[in-house]
Amino acid sequence: MKIITSMNILRQEIQKHKDSVGSIGFVPTMGFLHEGHLTLADEARKQNEVVVMSIFVNPLQFGPDEDFDRYPRDIDRDRELAENAGVDILFIPDAKEMYPDELSVTMTVHKRIDVLCGKKREGHFDGVVTILAKLFHLVQPSRAYFGLKDAQQIAVVEGMVEDYFFPVEIVRVPTVREEDGLAKSSRNVYLSESERKEAPVLYKSLKEAAQMIESGKMSVDAVVIKVRDILQNETSGKVEYVEAYSFPQLSPVDDLTGEVIIAVAVQFEKARLIDNIIILLNEEGKSACLEQ
Ligand code: PAF
Repeated sequence: MKIITSMNILRQEIQKHKDSVGSIGFVPTMGFLHEGHLTLADEARKQNEVVVMSIFVNPLQFGPDEDFDRYPRDIDRDRELAENAGVDILFIPDAKEMYPDELSVTMTVHKRIDVLCGKKREGHFDGVVTILAKLFHLVQPSRAYFGLKDAQQIAVVEGMVEDYFFPVEIVRVPTVREEDGLAKSSRNVYLSESERKEAPVLYKSLKEAAQMIESGKMSVDAVVIKVRDILQNETSGKVEYVEAYSFPQLSPVDDLTGEVIIAVAVQFEKARLIDNIIILLNEEGKSACLEQ
Protein backbone atom coordinates (compact mmCIF):
# COMPACT_ATOMS: atom_id res chain seq x y z
CA MET A 1 0.00 0.00 0.00
CA LYS A 2 1.28 3.46 -0.91
CA ILE A 3 0.73 6.21 1.62
CA ILE A 4 0.49 9.59 -0.05
CA THR A 5 0.18 12.90 1.71
CA SER A 6 0.79 15.25 -1.19
CA MET A 7 -1.76 16.19 -3.80
CA ASN A 8 0.78 16.29 -6.64
CA ILE A 9 2.13 12.86 -5.91
CA LEU A 10 -1.42 11.53 -5.77
CA ARG A 11 -2.11 13.10 -9.17
CA GLN A 12 0.96 11.40 -10.68
CA GLU A 13 -0.01 8.07 -9.18
CA ILE A 14 -3.61 8.35 -10.45
CA GLN A 15 -2.35 9.26 -13.92
CA LYS A 16 -0.29 6.06 -13.99
CA HIS A 17 -3.41 4.02 -13.28
CA LYS A 18 -5.50 5.98 -15.77
CA ASP A 19 -2.91 5.22 -18.46
CA SER A 20 -3.24 1.52 -17.82
CA VAL A 21 -6.76 0.10 -18.09
CA GLY A 22 -7.89 -0.28 -14.50
CA SER A 23 -10.96 1.17 -12.82
CA ILE A 24 -10.45 3.09 -9.59
CA GLY A 25 -12.66 2.46 -6.57
CA PHE A 26 -12.63 5.27 -4.01
CA VAL A 27 -13.48 5.12 -0.31
CA PRO A 28 -13.51 8.61 1.25
CA THR A 29 -13.32 8.53 5.06
CA MET A 30 -12.52 10.66 8.07
CA GLY A 31 -10.45 7.84 9.57
CA PHE A 32 -10.73 6.01 12.88
CA LEU A 33 -11.64 3.11 10.67
CA HIS A 34 -14.11 0.46 11.72
CA GLU A 35 -15.74 -2.50 10.03
CA GLY A 36 -18.14 -0.18 8.21
CA HIS A 37 -15.25 1.48 6.37
CA LEU A 38 -13.51 -1.85 5.81
CA THR A 39 -16.68 -3.20 4.19
CA LEU A 40 -16.63 -0.23 1.82
CA ALA A 41 -13.02 -1.08 0.99
CA ASP A 42 -13.97 -4.76 0.47
CA GLU A 43 -16.69 -3.78 -1.98
CA ALA A 44 -14.29 -1.46 -3.77
CA ARG A 45 -11.70 -4.26 -3.90
CA LYS A 46 -14.22 -6.64 -5.51
CA GLN A 47 -15.28 -4.22 -8.23
CA ASN A 48 -12.09 -2.34 -9.19
CA GLU A 49 -8.48 -2.88 -10.11
CA VAL A 50 -7.23 -0.10 -7.85
CA VAL A 51 -8.59 0.97 -4.46
CA VAL A 52 -7.92 4.45 -3.12
CA MET A 53 -8.95 5.41 0.40
CA SER A 54 -8.69 8.93 1.79
CA ILE A 55 -8.48 9.90 5.45
CA PHE A 56 -9.23 13.52 6.12
CA VAL A 57 -11.17 15.00 9.02
CA ASN A 58 -12.80 17.73 7.01
CA PRO A 59 -13.09 20.91 9.11
CA LEU A 60 -15.62 22.41 6.70
CA GLN A 61 -18.34 19.90 7.56
CA PHE A 62 -18.24 20.50 11.33
CA GLY A 63 -20.33 23.21 12.95
CA PRO A 64 -18.75 25.54 15.54
CA ASP A 65 -20.27 23.52 18.42
CA GLU A 66 -19.49 20.14 16.95
CA ASP A 67 -16.74 17.63 17.68
CA PHE A 68 -14.00 18.54 15.16
CA ASP A 69 -11.31 18.82 17.84
CA ARG A 70 -12.28 15.71 19.72
CA TYR A 71 -13.18 13.62 16.64
CA PRO A 72 -11.35 10.31 17.25
CA ARG A 73 -8.11 9.91 15.30
CA ASP A 74 -5.62 7.02 15.15
CA ILE A 75 -3.57 7.16 12.00
CA ASP A 76 -1.19 4.28 12.85
CA ARG A 77 -4.05 1.89 13.44
CA ASP A 78 -5.88 3.18 10.34
CA ARG A 79 -2.81 2.54 8.18
CA GLU A 80 -2.64 -1.06 9.31
CA LEU A 81 -6.37 -1.64 8.84
CA ALA A 82 -6.38 -0.05 5.39
CA GLU A 83 -3.43 -2.15 4.30
CA ASN A 84 -5.09 -5.35 5.53
CA ALA A 85 -8.28 -4.37 3.71
CA GLY A 86 -6.36 -4.35 0.43
CA VAL A 87 -6.24 -0.59 -0.10
CA ASP A 88 -3.64 0.26 -2.77
CA ILE A 89 -3.32 3.99 -2.12
CA LEU A 90 -4.03 5.67 1.19
CA PHE A 91 -4.31 9.42 0.73
CA ILE A 92 -3.86 11.43 3.93
CA PRO A 93 -3.81 15.07 2.88
CA ASP A 94 -3.01 18.04 5.00
CA ALA A 95 -5.73 20.61 5.72
CA LYS A 96 -3.45 23.36 4.38
CA GLU A 97 -3.23 21.59 1.05
CA MET A 98 -6.93 20.85 0.80
CA TYR A 99 -7.92 24.39 1.83
CA PRO A 100 -4.91 26.62 1.08
CA ASP A 101 -6.97 29.79 0.99
CA GLU A 102 -10.45 30.98 1.59
CA LEU A 103 -12.51 29.51 -1.28
CA SER A 104 -13.37 31.95 -4.04
CA VAL A 105 -16.24 29.77 -5.24
CA THR A 106 -18.30 27.89 -2.68
CA MET A 107 -20.76 25.02 -2.97
CA THR A 108 -24.18 25.19 -1.33
CA VAL A 109 -26.61 22.30 -1.20
CA HIS A 110 -30.22 23.35 -1.81
CA LYS A 111 -32.18 20.11 -1.88
CA ARG A 112 -32.50 17.12 0.43
CA ILE A 113 -31.10 19.06 3.43
CA ASP A 114 -34.14 20.66 5.07
CA VAL A 115 -34.91 17.34 6.81
CA LEU A 116 -33.16 14.83 9.07
CA CYS A 117 -29.59 15.83 10.07
CA GLY A 118 -29.44 18.67 7.54
CA LYS A 119 -32.01 20.64 9.54
CA LYS A 120 -29.81 20.78 12.60
CA ARG A 121 -26.34 20.63 11.06
CA GLU A 122 -26.41 23.86 9.11
CA GLY A 123 -23.70 23.99 6.47
CA HIS A 124 -22.67 20.38 7.13
CA PHE A 125 -23.58 19.09 3.68
CA ASP A 126 -21.99 22.13 1.98
CA GLY A 127 -18.75 21.00 3.64
CA VAL A 128 -19.29 17.40 2.55
CA VAL A 129 -19.90 18.22 -1.13
CA THR A 130 -16.99 20.67 -1.17
CA ILE A 131 -14.46 18.14 0.04
CA LEU A 132 -15.92 15.39 -2.15
CA ALA A 133 -15.78 17.60 -5.25
CA LYS A 134 -12.09 18.22 -4.50
CA LEU A 135 -11.38 14.55 -3.80
CA PHE A 136 -13.32 13.32 -6.85
CA HIS A 137 -11.25 15.66 -9.05
CA LEU A 138 -8.01 14.40 -7.55
CA VAL A 139 -8.79 10.69 -7.42
CA GLN A 140 -10.94 10.50 -10.60
CA PRO A 141 -12.67 7.34 -9.39
CA SER A 142 -14.90 5.14 -11.53
CA ARG A 143 -16.88 4.27 -8.41
CA ALA A 144 -17.12 5.81 -4.92
CA TYR A 145 -18.38 3.87 -1.92
CA PHE A 146 -20.65 5.24 0.83
CA GLY A 147 -22.34 3.55 3.77
CA LEU A 148 -26.13 3.69 3.98
CA LYS A 149 -25.95 4.59 7.67
CA ASP A 150 -25.37 8.12 6.41
CA ALA A 151 -28.29 7.86 4.00
CA GLN A 152 -28.83 11.61 3.77
CA GLN A 153 -25.19 12.00 2.76
CA ILE A 154 -25.75 9.48 -0.04
CA ALA A 155 -28.89 11.34 -1.16
CA VAL A 156 -27.01 14.65 -1.27
CA VAL A 157 -23.94 13.21 -3.00
CA GLU A 158 -26.11 11.48 -5.61
CA GLY A 159 -27.72 14.88 -6.25
CA MET A 160 -24.32 16.55 -6.69
CA VAL A 161 -23.03 13.84 -9.03
CA GLU A 162 -26.19 14.07 -11.13
CA ASP A 163 -26.28 17.89 -11.27
CA TYR A 164 -22.59 18.34 -12.10
CA PHE A 165 -22.05 15.28 -14.31
CA PHE A 166 -19.29 13.83 -12.15
CA PRO A 167 -18.24 10.70 -14.05
CA VAL A 168 -18.45 8.48 -10.99
CA GLU A 169 -20.89 5.80 -9.91
CA ILE A 170 -22.02 6.17 -6.29
CA VAL A 171 -22.22 2.72 -4.70
CA ARG A 172 -24.55 2.41 -1.69
CA VAL A 173 -23.24 -0.11 0.82
CA PRO A 174 -25.51 -1.56 3.57
CA THR A 175 -24.89 -0.51 7.16
CA VAL A 176 -22.53 -2.74 9.11
CA ARG A 177 -23.78 -3.53 12.61
CA GLU A 178 -22.56 -4.87 15.92
CA GLU A 179 -24.04 -8.22 16.88
CA ASP A 180 -26.77 -6.52 18.89
CA GLY A 181 -27.77 -4.34 15.93
CA LEU A 182 -26.02 -1.06 16.78
CA ALA A 183 -24.79 0.54 13.57
CA LYS A 184 -20.98 0.79 13.56
CA SER A 185 -19.78 4.36 13.86
CA SER A 186 -16.57 6.10 14.90
CA ARG A 187 -18.69 8.12 17.32
CA ASN A 188 -19.88 5.04 19.27
CA VAL A 189 -16.78 5.53 21.46
CA TYR A 190 -18.54 8.52 23.01
CA LEU A 191 -21.26 6.28 24.53
CA SER A 192 -21.18 5.57 28.27
CA GLU A 193 -21.51 1.95 29.37
CA SER A 194 -25.20 2.25 30.15
CA GLU A 195 -25.93 4.18 26.95
CA ARG A 196 -24.14 1.49 24.95
CA LYS A 197 -26.62 -1.03 26.38
CA GLU A 198 -29.57 1.10 25.28
CA ALA A 199 -28.21 1.99 21.84
CA PRO A 200 -29.42 -1.15 19.98
CA VAL A 201 -32.98 0.11 20.54
CA LEU A 202 -32.53 2.43 17.54
CA TYR A 203 -32.28 -0.48 15.15
CA LYS A 204 -34.85 -2.53 17.04
CA SER A 205 -37.40 0.27 16.66
CA LEU A 206 -36.64 0.55 12.93
CA LYS A 207 -37.10 -3.16 12.38
CA GLU A 208 -40.42 -3.00 14.19
CA ALA A 209 -41.39 -0.06 11.98
CA ALA A 210 -40.62 -2.06 8.84
CA GLN A 211 -42.71 -4.97 10.13
CA MET A 212 -45.63 -2.67 11.02
CA ILE A 213 -45.64 -1.15 7.53
CA GLU A 214 -45.32 -4.54 5.91
CA SER A 215 -48.26 -5.91 7.86
CA GLY A 216 -50.27 -3.20 6.11
CA LYS A 217 -52.01 -2.32 9.38
CA MET A 218 -50.37 1.02 9.98
CA SER A 219 -49.75 4.16 7.97
CA VAL A 220 -46.23 5.58 7.77
CA ASP A 221 -47.33 8.49 10.02
CA ALA A 222 -48.63 6.13 12.71
CA VAL A 223 -45.42 4.12 12.50
CA VAL A 224 -43.31 7.26 13.00
CA ILE A 225 -45.25 8.03 16.21
CA LYS A 226 -44.80 4.45 17.41
CA VAL A 227 -41.02 4.52 16.79
CA ARG A 228 -40.72 7.81 18.67
CA ASP A 229 -42.57 6.21 21.63
CA ILE A 230 -40.22 3.23 21.65
CA LEU A 231 -37.12 5.44 21.59
CA GLN A 232 -38.46 7.76 24.26
CA ASN A 233 -39.41 4.89 26.57
CA GLU A 234 -36.40 2.68 26.05
CA THR A 235 -33.47 5.09 25.93
CA SER A 236 -32.21 7.83 28.23
CA GLY A 237 -31.29 9.92 25.18
CA LYS A 238 -33.23 12.81 23.67
CA VAL A 239 -35.05 11.79 20.50
CA GLU A 240 -33.98 14.38 17.95
CA TYR A 241 -36.04 13.09 15.06
CA VAL A 242 -38.02 10.19 13.69
CA GLU A 243 -38.90 10.93 10.08
CA ALA A 244 -40.00 9.09 6.94
CA TYR A 245 -39.39 10.23 3.36
CA SER A 246 -39.11 8.98 -0.16
CA PHE A 247 -35.52 7.99 -0.93
CA PRO A 248 -33.26 9.47 -2.23
CA GLN A 249 -35.42 12.56 -2.90
CA LEU A 250 -36.17 12.99 0.82
CA SER A 251 -39.58 14.42 0.09
CA PRO A 252 -42.84 13.60 1.93
CA VAL A 253 -44.19 10.11 1.33
CA ASP A 254 -47.60 10.78 -0.20
CA ASP A 255 -48.12 7.70 -2.28
CA LEU A 256 -46.86 4.61 -0.58
CA THR A 257 -44.75 3.21 -3.39
CA GLY A 258 -41.06 3.13 -4.12
CA GLU A 259 -38.21 3.47 -1.68
CA VAL A 260 -39.08 4.91 1.73
CA ILE A 261 -36.53 5.75 4.40
CA ILE A 262 -37.39 5.80 8.09
CA ALA A 263 -34.59 7.56 9.93
CA VAL A 264 -33.92 8.33 13.57
CA ALA A 265 -31.46 10.41 15.58
CA VAL A 266 -30.99 10.21 19.33
CA GLN A 267 -28.79 12.56 21.31
CA PHE A 268 -27.11 10.82 24.25
CA GLU A 269 -24.92 12.71 26.65
CA LYS A 270 -21.85 12.87 24.39
CA ALA A 271 -22.85 10.75 21.42
CA ARG A 272 -25.43 11.60 18.81
CA LEU A 273 -26.52 8.37 17.11
CA ILE A 274 -28.31 8.08 13.79
CA ASP A 275 -29.75 5.06 12.04
CA ASN A 276 -32.24 4.27 9.30
CA ILE A 277 -33.97 1.55 7.38
CA ILE A 278 -34.99 1.73 3.73
CA ILE A 279 -38.01 -0.21 2.58
CA LEU A 280 -39.38 -0.74 -0.87
CA LEU A 281 -43.14 -0.36 -1.03
CA ASN A 282 -44.94 -1.93 -3.96
CA GLU A 283 -48.32 -0.84 -5.36
CA GLU A 284 -50.24 -2.61 -2.60
CA GLY A 285 -48.22 -0.88 0.10
CA LYS A 286 -46.43 -4.14 0.84
CA SER A 287 -42.81 -3.70 1.73
CA ALA A 288 -39.52 -5.46 1.25
CA CYS A 289 -36.59 -4.34 3.35
CA LEU A 290 -33.79 -3.10 1.13
CA GLU A 291 -31.32 -2.43 3.86
CA GLN A 292 -30.97 -3.87 7.33
O1 PAF B 1 -18.80 10.10 5.71
C1 PAF B 1 -17.72 10.67 5.96
O2 PAF B 1 -16.86 10.12 6.66
C2 PAF B 1 -17.46 12.06 5.42
O3 PAF B 1 -18.63 12.81 5.42
C3 PAF B 1 -16.81 12.07 4.04
C4 PAF B 1 -17.70 11.42 2.98
C5 PAF B 1 -15.49 11.31 4.10
C6 PAF B 1 -16.51 13.49 3.59
O4 PAF B 1 -15.64 14.14 4.48
